[in-house]
Amino acid sequence: MNDKEIENIPRHIAIIMDGNGRWAQAKKRPRIMGHQQGAKVVEKISRECAHLGVEQLTLYTFSEENWQRPVDEVQYLMNLLKRFLRKERKNLVENNIRFCAIGDLERLPKDVQHELQKSIDVSYNNDGMKLCLALSYGSRSEIVDATKKIAAQVAKGEINIEDINHQLFAQNLYQPNMQDPDLLIRTGGDMRVSNFLLWQISYSELWVTHTMWPDFAKEDLLQAIQSYSTRERRFGKISAQVKENHRKIIPG
Ligand code: IPE
Ligand code: IPE
Ligand code: MG
Repeated sequence: MNDKEIENIPRHIAIIMDGNGRWAQAKKRPRIMGHQQGAKVVEKISRECAHLGVEQLTLYTFSEENWQRPVDEVQYLMNLLKRFLRKERKNLVENNIRFCAIGDLERLPKDVQHELQKSIDVSYNNDGMKLCLALSYGSRSEIVDATKKIAAQVAKGEINIEDINHQLFAQNLYQPNMQDPDLLIRTGGDMRVSNFLLWQISYSELWVTHTMWPDFAKEDLLQAIQSYSTRERRFGKISAQVKENHRKIIPG
């Protein structure tokens, strides 16, 4: 299968990039080797998605819970992130990618925050794919933060309680105009969402692979998109086929 055979490209793909440690462990290498290889895959898959015409790619890069890992692993990941941001900046420009980041970014080391800002600034006018890294990200915290922002607006009299609806709530999440992911991919085989985009994935299509993130290739991406493109998204309604036959089912 090649990219030309896929008709229905998801507008927004979100990926839980899991399995770096197990990939390294299987090769009897330290976990950080998995992270290093994982960063290369991020570069490759971002470019593929941009070329396929995906509008947004959101990558779960470091969770709020990941701060609890051993200090040396966290330190390595922060340095890797810094190097990745510096190296990838040229590709953002060359591939017309607009960069963004979501999460509790103030918790990140200052030099990482600085590199993030540079990538955001340099790619600000690009109008191709949006690449969003979820960093120090936890969905429950995002939801609590949104609730606090809304409560403050009510307290100041800027809005009424009756004004609070799905749309207003989404406007107060980390990335206000983000459209919900169409497809959520998880590598590494675990069937869980690990505190990722809980509000936004209400109706996303899920695709889990046993492939570890450092081995994730263009073929895996195309396979996920292929699976997505054959699904009927009903959003709670009855399927088009059933609707067609509906009159026959309900007598009278
Ligand atoms: C994902 O790989 C990367 C991060 C969470 C930072 P892991 O490091 O979780 O790898 P496994 O799941 O232990 O194999
Ligand atoms: C999810 O992977 C977070 C990222 C990919 C950044 P984890 O390895 O942290 O998730 P759990 O612990 O398996 O749920
Ligand atoms: Mg993991």
